[in-house]
Amino acid sequence: MKLYAFIFIFNCAHFSMPLDCFWNSCQYKKFSSKTPYNCIRDDIRDSVVKLDGCDVISIWTIIRHGKRSPGGNYSLYMKDAISLRNKVKSSYEKGTRFLCAQDVENLINWQVDSELFDKAHSLTREGYQEMFGIGKRLREAFIQLLDKVENGSYVIRSAYGHWVENGVIGFVEGLSNNKSMEIQHLAPQNDSLAVYYRCPKYMKEIRRHPKTYSEYDTYLENKEYLAAKKRIENRVGVELTNDNITGLYDLCRYAWSAIDNKPSPWCALFSMKDLEVMEYAGDLRHYYRNGFGNQLNVLMGEIVISDLYKKFIHAKDNRGVKIVAYFSHATMLDMVVSALGVFNDKMPLTGTFRNVNRKWRSSKVSAFAANLIAVLYRCGNVYKVGFYLNEELLTSMCDNGICSWQEFENKLIPFLNVTLEVCF
Ligand SMILES: *[C@@H]1O[C@H](CO)[C@@H](O)[C@H](O)[C@H]1NC(C)=O
Ligand SMILES: *[C@@H]1O[C@H](CO)[C@@H](O)[C@H](O)[C@H]1NC(C)=O
Ligand SMILES: *[C@@H]1O[C@H](CO)[C@@H](O)[C@H](O)[C@H]1NC(C)=O
Ligand SMILES: *[C@@H]1O[C@H](CO)[C@@H](O)[C@H](O)[C@H]1NC(C)=O
Ligand SMILES: *[C@@H]1O[C@H](CO)[C@@H](O)[C@H](O)[C@H]1NC(C)=O
Ligand SMILES: *[C@@H]1O[C@H](CO)[C@@H](O)[C@H](O)[C@H]1NC(C)=O
Repeated sequence: MKLYAFIFIFNCAHFSMPLDCFWNSCQYKKFSSKTPYNCIRDDIRDSVVKLDGCDVISIWTIIRHGKRSPGGNYSLYMKDAISLRNKVKSSYEKGTRFLCAQDVENLINWQVDSELFDKAHSLTREGYQEMFGIGKRLREAFIQLLDKVENGSYVIRSAYGHWVENGVIGFVEGLSNNKSMEIQHLAPQNDSLAVYYRCPKYMKEIRRHPKTYSEYDTYLENKEYLAAKKRIENRVGVELTNDNITGLYDLCRYAWSAIDNKPSPWCALFSMKDLEVMEYAGDLRHYYRNGFGNQLNVLMGEIVISDLYKKFIHAKDNRGVKIVAYFSHATMLDMVVSALGVFNDKMPLTGTFRNVNRKWRSSKVSAFAANLIAVLYRCGNVYKVGFYLNEELLTSMCDNGICSWQEFENKLIPFLNVTLEVCF
C-alpha cells in the first residue's frame, strides 16, 4: 500500500495539479446495496472456528439474492448517463485535466454488457455464481455434516421473486455437488421471508413514506455531498442533476465484474471520497427504511430470526435438519441483522453528519449475496452457536462470534412471541 502511494505521487508530480488515477489505484469497493459479493466477502472455509471437542450438528443461514440487473427507472438513468461519455471525451480533448488519460481511454472502450439492460430486475450470471460459490464453500467447510444431505435433512426456501429463486438453483448446485434437492417456493400471500410486504403499517408509514428518506434528502443538500457533486461535474465536464449522478454511480457499481476481478471504468468519475459519500447516502436510506431508524423494522427482523431458535432447539433434540437455507432480499437482511442488535450506533445516522466510524454499513449488511450464517456446535452435552456475516466471524456477537447456549437463548427467546399484530 505504501509503495503504491509513493509511485503514484511520483507519477503525478508531472502534472500541475495532483491527479487521482483510478486504473492503478487501490480502489474503493463498497457500493452500498449494489456491492458485488466478492468485493467484501471472506471465505467460510478459512474463517470457520473449529472448537475442540465439538461437532457441528446444524447450520442456519439467510442469504440475499446475488447480483441482479437494475430495475424500475434506474436503468433509464443509466442509459442516459452512458451518453455523458462523449462529454468526458470532448472535455478531455479540449485540454481539461480532471481525469487520467488511461481512465478516459478505458471509459471510451467500455462496452455495454447486454445482460445489464435486456431483462430488468433479473439475476445475472455473476449473481448465479455468487450463489453457487456460497453453496460450494459451505459444503467444503462443513463436509462432515454436508457431504450427503438426504431428503428430509434440509430446508431450502425462497422468498417470492424470480431473481431470488433462480439463484437458489445455483446454491443447490454448489451445496449438493449437483444432485437435485427440493426447493420450497413462497408466494406473496405466504412470503414469510419478506414479511414486510404483509405489514401494511410498514408499507404505508415507512417504505412508501417520504419521511423515511428525509435524512437522505438532507444529505443531498449537505456541503460534503455538494462538493462531491462538483468534483464529479468537473470530471464529466457538464452540470449534472442528482438523477444523472445516480445513473453514473449505478454504471460504476453494476459494471464492476467482481467474479473476474475487473473494475468498472465508470468509477473513475468518482474519487475515493466521492464513493464514500455515495455509500453514506445509501446507508441513510437503508438505515431508516429497513434498519435501526425505525423500531418496526427491528421487530420484523425478530420474527424471522426467531425461526433460528426453533430450528436449533429441534437440532439439539435430534429432531432437526442439517441445514436450513433461506433466500431473500436486502430489506430482510437489514432487518434480521438489526434484530440481532449488531452494527447499532449510539447516535442515529443523520444527513448533517457522516460519522466515518459508524457501525451501520449497507455495503456489508445488504451487499449482493450478503448472508448470515449460524452454526450449532455440540460439545458433549454443552451447546454453542457461532455467527458469521458474509463468511466472516461476526465478532460483535457474544464472545468474539461464539455464543454459549445461554447467551443464544437470552437473545432469541424474547422474539418468539413477536407477531405482525402491530401492523394492522
Ligand atoms: C418512473 O418515473 C416516472 C416518471 O417520473 C414515474 O411516474 C414512475 O412511477 C417511475 N417508475 C418507477 C418504477 O419508479
Ligand atoms: C440528467 O437528468 C435529467 C433529469 O434529472 C434528465 O432530463 C437528463 O436527460 C439527464 N441527462 C443525462 C445526460 O443523463
Ligand atoms: C450441474 O449439472 C448441470 C446439468 O446437468 C450442468 O449444466 C452443470 O454444469 C453442472 N454443474 C457442475 C458444477 O457440475
Ligand atoms: C430427493 O428429492 C429430489 C427433489 O424432490 C428428488 O429429485 C430426488 O429423487 C430425491 N432423492 C431421493 C433419494 O429420494
Ligand atoms: C406458499 O404458497 C404457495 C401458493 O399457495 C404454495 O404453493 C406453497 O407450497 C407455499 N409454500 C410454503 C412453504 O408454505
Ligand atoms: C410468550 O407468551 C407466552 C404465552 O402468552 C407466555 O407464557 C410467555 O411468558 C411469553 N414469553 C416471553 C419471553 O415473553
